[in-house]
Amino acid sequence: MTEKKIARCPGPSTQDIVLADAAPPPETFIAEAYTYLGDEDLSYDAYSSEDIARLERERLWPRTWQMACREEELPEPRDYVVFDIADESVILVRQEDGSIRAFINSCVHRGMQLLPSGARGRTALLRCPFHGWTYGSDGALKSLPCAWDFDHVDRANSGLDEVSVERWGGFVFVFLGRDPPPLADFLDPVTALDLPVPMDERHIVTHVRKHLPANWKLSVEAFLEAYHVIATHPEGLQSAGDANCQYDLLGPHVSRFIHTIGFQSPHLKSAPTEEEMLERLDRGRARLKLQPGERARDVFAAHLRTVMAEQTGVDLSAVSSTQMMDSIEYFCFPNFVFFPGISLPMVYRFSPDPDSVHRCFFDLWFLAPTRPGERPPPPPETIDLALDEPFASAPGLDPKLAYIYDQDVDNLARLTRGIRASRKPGQTLGTYQEVRIRHMRQTLAAYLADG
Ligand code: FES
Repeated sequence: MTEKKIARCPGPSTQDIVLADAAPPPETFIAEAYTYLGDEDLSYDAYSSEDIARLERERLWPRTWQMACREEELPEPRDYVVFDIADESVILVRQEDGSIRAFINSCVHRGMQLLPSGARGRTALLRCPFHGWTYGSDGALKSLPCAWDFDHVDRANSGLDEVSVERWGGFVFVFLGRDPPPLADFLDPVTALDLPVPMDERHIVTHVRKHLPANWKLSVEAFLEAYHVIATHPEGLQSAGDANCQYDLLGPHVSRFIHTIGFQSPHLKSAPTEEEMLERLDRGRARLKLQPGERARDVFAAHLRTVMAEQTGVDLSAVSSTQMMDSIEYFCFPNFVFFPGISLPMVYRFSPDPDSVHRCFFDLWFLAPTRPGERPPPPPETIDLALDEPFASAPGLDPKLAYIYDQDVDNLARLTRGIRASRKPGQTLGTYQEVRIRHMRQTLAAYLADG
């Protein structure tokens, strides 16, 4: 590695903007944590090599905590969700005592998948559709047809294989291998986050599952930086930062960006007035007014607090402006992303397609604060989008956000094609704006090297 360098965009930084807010967050929340990680090119092999995909199946997926579902998808005993990652398939089941257990989704008889991928429902018994071996919601083998033919089977020890489960923030995680580290250690410092609306006081309002035309890592990486905004989402430059986005490496498995709203891109030369910026944030509806000396960003954050408090019944008066309106993204290695902000409340999960290294699945959820004193409403049906179906076709998705996600997906197909044609063996990353990609790849390399 060459000598440490400091590269930052000129002009107001995220810190300058956020710490000047009328409602700033605790300084610890936005503390910078950047480390220079080098500038060597990163090989393109990671996106196409079957050998690397095989190593990931052996050394990555069984050794990392995987976000499998949300707790509100399992509200009652005997509720189940099927979660797949790479070649693995797991059934998560809510138990009578409220705990959640997870079992390998493979019949002990001849390996049939007990429940189909993506299934969700409630059942007291898991009955194999092939010959009818039947398991309880605790995974124990309860019965099998023609038991007289299976005297050699120790029924008390022929239940479904079980894997470890831990929970944080309303998310349910599974660990597929042996000797899991504590989830809090793995996600450090995420579980210590002090959020004004904790993640476990939110619920799913939308879930879209899209098949993507790219390797899972290429897809994750496309969402780890704002450098692409100038070319891919130029319409966003007028009311959001990009080159002055803050990037933080918070732990071996966790990184973050904070992308401010209400200040235009440093790429644009002529600055708008605060009135003009408020008009942009309000999408031209002219509902909001500025008092002398006020910033558009503060007025719009206050407006969002009021409107969203009415919608959700949750007191948002203590939510800082950045947590209210900015795009704040936490990435948890290897494939889980969540946004703790209130008005941009997304969750992502990227899963390899076991049938092609050039495909993956992208789960996109939107969460909303849960009304105090009430249980979360039942989760909506998942909207499945095939490779050729755009986000714009997903019912209920904000058209503006769907347009942005479709722009990103369009990039992925062309990126995959271009990388396959490339004579250059690797990609050249920015040392600051793309540091989260290098961080992810260095963590991945450590897992794959550990035999
Ligand atoms: Fe399940 Fe035969 S494979 S009962």
